[in-house]
This record gives sequence, C-alpha cells and structure tokens, in this order.
Amino acid sequence: MRAVILISGRGSNMEALLRANLPVEFAAVISNRPQAGGLAIARSLGVETIALDHTVYGADRAAFDAALAAEIDRLRADLVCLAGFMRVLTDAFVQRYQGHMLNIHPALLPAFPGLDTHARALAAGVKIHGCTVHFVTPEVDAGPIVVQAAVPVLDDDTPERLAARVLAQEHRIYPMAVRWYAEGRLHLGADGRVRVDAPRLPESALISPNG
Ligand code: GAR
Repeated sequence: MRAVILISGRGSNMEALLRANLPVEFAAVISNRPQAGGLAIARSLGVETIALDHTVYGADRAAFDAALAAEIDRLRADLVCLAGFMRVLTDAFVQRYQGHMLNIHPALLPAFPGLDTHARALAAGVKIHGCTVHFVTPEVDAGPIVVQAAVPVLDDDTPERLAARVLAQEHRIYPMAVRWYAEGRLHLGADGRVRVDAPRLPESALISPNG
C-alpha cells in the first residue's frame, strides 16, 4: 500500500503517521506551502518531500488541483492522507480520490466544522470535545466518519490547552484509521457508509464533568 500525506504546516499528524510503523510505504509528503515546518521533519525521517506552492497558481484552483493530482498519480498512491492541509479542494479532485482520501479534523464532527474549532467549542460551552478522521467528500468536513476520540473540556481551558489535549488524541486515531485502511479493514461503501472491521470496545462512557 502506497500513501501520500498532504500538509500545510507543522506536520505533527504527519509525523505521527510516519512514526507509527504502519504497513504503508509513504511515497511522499506534499505541502502547498514551501515553508511548512513538516517538510523538514519528513526529510529527516527519510521521506521524499514535494513543495507545490499554491500561490503560483493564483486563483486557479483547478490548475493547482490538477498539478497536485499529477504528483499523486506519478507516485502511484493508493491513499491520500490530509494532515493539516489547509486548502479547500475542488469537487473534481475530491471525486477522483473518493474512498481513498482521509482527513483529520480537530472536533467531533458534525459539530464545529471549519476553523477555530477549539475556541468555538469553549464559546459553546460543550463539556466534551475531540477529533474525527473521516473520508473526504466535496462538502468540507462533512464526509463519512471513520473514527473519533473524545476528551473532556475543563473549566480552566484555553483554546491552546484544549487543542493540546485534542492533538494527543489526533496522533492516536489517525494512525489507527490508516492501519485499518492498509490492512483492508476500512472501506467506504457505494452507499456512502463506512465499514470498519475493528475490535469492539467494552461499553463505557466519558462523562464530563465527572464530579
Ligand atoms: C491539526 O489539529 C488538524 O486536525 C487540523 O490542523 C492541525 C494541523 O496540525 N486540521 C484542520 O483544521 C483541517 N481543517 P499538524 O500540522 O501538527 O498536524
């Protein structure tokens, strides 16, 4: 199984994937921002990096996405992992990889799609927050859900503290999902439903606050 990881920034989820000893050959890490910190991390781990600067394409999203698809196809990737890739993709691009493209989002979707999820979760007063791995579909942050992890929201949380608690869980569930995919245990059905062949957890609940 060959995969590529798309990033825009620091690349901590990318690093979690690269270090997870997955049965995956990571063919390359591609960033739309040449300055992304994650590129140096990927290189230090022996992974090919490609900077595909979206600003060169101006407002022409289709041209950027066509260049991106050309790279992914040249690399013969079976799976595309979006890991902090902060760019909306065209419908044509998404449809080309439908069922073969995963994203990690820092909220319990369908709550808090989009940006600033942690500040918005605090403002909404939710007591449980978390992260989601989902298949990518044309509607942003709305694709079929693969796996989620939940964390408590604490009274003295700041967006930064909450983000750190969620990020630790992102680094757990994204490698899990990619492993399931690589092992042929995760599929997106033609009916749009996710099928995961994973061990069932004993039933338990996260209650927050739990006093
Ligand atoms: C992560 O928290 C990821 O969930 C989020 O950006 C961060 C990237 O951090 N992604 C999105 O918000 C996608 N809409 P990283 O570069 O250290 O993995």
